[in-house]
Amino acid sequence: MRVILFSLWIFAGAAVLFAQQPAPVRAPSTASQRPPQTVQPQTYQPEQIQAGQIRFSSQCGFCHGRDAAGGETGPDLTRSVLVAQDLRGDKIGPMIRSGRQEKGMPAFQELAESDLNAIVAFVHDQKTKAESLGGGRRSVDVADLQTGNADAGKQYFNGAGGCAKCHSASGDLAGVGMRFQGLALLQRMLYPASGRPAPAPAKATATLPNGETVSGTVVSRDEFTVVIRDTSGANRNVSASEGKITIDDPLNAHFELLGKYTDTDMHNVHAYLQTLR
Ligand code: HEC
Ligand code: HEC
Repeated sequence: MRVILFSLWIFAGAAVLFAQQPAPVRAPSTASQRPPQTVQPQTYQPEQIQAGQIRFSSQCGFCHGRDAAGGETGPDLTRSVLVAQDLRGDKIGPMIRSGRQEKGMPAFQELAESDLNAIVAFVHDQKTKAESLGGGRRSVDVADLQTGNADAGKQYFNGAGGCAKCHSASGDLAGVGMRFQGLALLQRMLYPASGRPAPAPAKATATLPNGETVSGTVVSRDEFTVVIRDTSGANRNVSASEGKITIDDPLNAHFELLGKYTDTDMHNVHAYLQTLR
């Protein structure tokens, strides 16, 4: 997996506008090149685009920028060839569902079909805008992280947020507010796997056309193939089109949470985690 470096000044999430300040550490800009043209132009209902924008900013914006024009770890989707070739989600959909975990793109297996379609609508709309504008720079907005209420965050953690189903403030998360601070803590809370190997590798079970079942840990995965290390230690390539593959990733819950948090919840939980010292 690519090592992901988060600059302290780069941040976006459901709560916070994507922030970028001068001289960020980024790959050389492709902004001078024209984005690839959409192969089959598509239009979407404004309501669907709007719904997609909300979804996108909470689930994808952290990495791809709230406007889909690229973030610190995720590429500019308005310049993506895959997006240019997509027709109503036929390419983007499978990509979002499978992710490309080793490259830092999580799998969104549980995303509702309607949310996925709305996200696709938003991405195409952003691309259309980028094509007509020729691409503009994103604005700078520094996150105000310190607006949360720790007590409300504690309630959310133990209640509506469901965090306590998997975590304990005096157990695995004891001292988390000392190990990570500010944005680093928020980043950890939103994307525990970023910048390091997944703590607990995903497991997969595949049923091949000949009826054979292959199960083990996921070595790598993209929209075409899953490589599974089976119980004998051998790596097996299963193509997504030939096998029925079920993947159990302990971090999936985290990606799904992104769509649940309101801005306030997120700030509150962050404030609460800061008190775990
Ligand atoms: C944790 C960061 C992260 C999140 C969250 C994330 N992505 Fe990505 N995404 C990436 C990275 C990194 C890549 C590049 C993978 C590669 O290099 O092959 C990528 C690639 C993609 C691509 C393919 C671009 C191309 O041209 O190959 C699409 C489409 C995409 N993401 C859409 C989304 C959508 C939609 C969401 C939200 C549902 C999302 N991503 C959430 C990090 C992320
Ligand atoms: C279904 C289980 C599940 C739920 C629900 C869940 N998490 Fe997690 N969380 C995980 C797993 C798995 C990890 C990765 C464990 C590790 O880092 O070793 C993780 C990691 C984290 C980390 C990083 C810990 C570290 O030391 O790096 C934080 C912070 C965190 N979660 C906060 C939350 C919060 C806040 C919520 C609720 C809003 C939540 N989690 C809900 C499973 C869950």
